[in-house]
Amino acid sequence: MSEPKKLFIKTYGCQMNVYDSERMAEALGGKGYVQTDAADNADMILLNTCHIREKAAEKVYHELGRMKHLKVANPDLKFGVAGCVAQAEGAEIIRRQPMVDLVVGPQSYHRLPAMDDAVQSGVRAVDTDFPDDDKFETLKSRSKAKRGPTAFLTVQEGCDKFCAFCVVPYTRGAEVSRPADRVVREAQELVAAGVREITLLGQNVNAYHGHEGGLAGLIWALDKVDGLERIRFTTSHPNDMDDALIEAHGTCEKLMPYLHLPVQSGSDRILKAMNRKHTAESYLKVIERIREARPDILLSGDFIVGFPGETDADFEDTLALIREVRYGQAYSFKYSTRPGTPAAEKPQLPEDVMNVRLQQLQGLLTQQQRAIQESMVGREVQVLFEKSGRTDGQMIGKSGYLHAVYADAPTDVLGQVKRVRITHSSTNSLAGELCKD
Ligand code: 5AD
Ligand code: SF4
Repeated sequence: MSEPKKLFIKTYGCQMNVYDSERMAEALGGKGYVQTDAADNADMILLNTCHIREKAAEKVYHELGRMKHLKVANPDLKFGVAGCVAQAEGAEIIRRQPMVDLVVGPQSYHRLPAMDDAVQSGVRAVDTDFPDDDKFETLKSRSKAKRGPTAFLTVQEGCDKFCAFCVVPYTRGAEVSRPADRVVREAQELVAAGVREITLLGQNVNAYHGHEGGLAGLIWALDKVDGLERIRFTTSHPNDMDDALIEAHGTCEKLMPYLHLPVQSGSDRILKAMNRKHTAESYLKVIERIREARPDILLSGDFIVGFPGETDADFEDTLALIREVRYGQAYSFKYSTRPGTPAAEKPQLPEDVMNVRLQQLQGLLTQQQRAIQESMVGREVQVLFEKSGRTDGQMIGKSGYLHAVYADAPTDVLGQVKRVRITHSSTNSLAGELCKD
């Protein structure tokens, strides 16, 4: 038998890319590739890229330049660029970096096996179509190999919202939902391979329409999957938090008490300019209803500071909204101009203004995160153990609120949900003791 070929994938950006990288590896597995952690002994290197913020393409060219010596050492090595930069730049990538053999967009990677054939015969391959054939239908079932207890599962792709700053509607295209029965089948395959917690992914996951009951309908269908213990989903738009989904947070035991619900800004003027189609008040109303359904839910958000036209008063409105919500987790960014998006045409704010605002915003969010983490001390939480820690006998898992939790425990807790009493809160994690059953 011939030696398996080695595939090295470097993944940038969001969780969706993590999922796509797994599926690309599985697709190329059918062509005899096995994944390696070492770029320097690979037969193929794939960069799965992200285009959400500035200089994304430049970073990819830089990374390719940095890896060029590997091609010099091994002329048979193939280079591929996948993901959203591939989608945005297309064949331009090969023009600028002729060492690249293939360019594949996020909707076409089911064609990787055929592209590999072309590349192996010395032909360059570029595919950034939004093809009619459904990539999920072409891709085989999930690998049966044993895997860790948590997994991502993409159920929806693309976005029809067109926020004025965002490239996603252009790179990932229109909203498409996978049929619920296929999602359930994939979840069953993942559970058979050892998965206990699934995070449903979509650029706008709560706009999911592959089930007549929407995302809530899908969650209830997954609730019936034996062996699946936890369900999460991300990322959501406030306007798509429908009644059934809010209610599920109170009634579905497998649905974890954590919700990532980006608001971006707390100023109505800026929200309008961002084309968010909601106000600060309507967002707060949604939060209030979710908290009525599930009082202990941990909320997470995304924020952009320095959107064109943002004044000090607008920024104060964002801080006020944050104070009102109290976030347990948050991601915040300086506005980054994305060519081709409506906001790119507007006059930009000075960098130093953005820096000061970002620092102030992050200071407040960090305070809130710490306070919520510290409030966990003394409480008992359910932890799904995922891996061993660095010190002997220590295991690491995640609580329902997505806090990392360390505890001394036997290795057989791996893959199991156990009760832990939290004893200590550090910067980015909690520590605790296993409770006696
Ligand atoms: N500039 C800064 N942040 C952005 N995001 C999306 N586009 C931009 C941009 N042009 C942030 C938003 C979004 C998250 C995924 O990335 O906060 O929710
Ligand atoms: Fe981008 Fe807005 Fe769609 Fe989110 S909802 S992917 S921020 S356009």
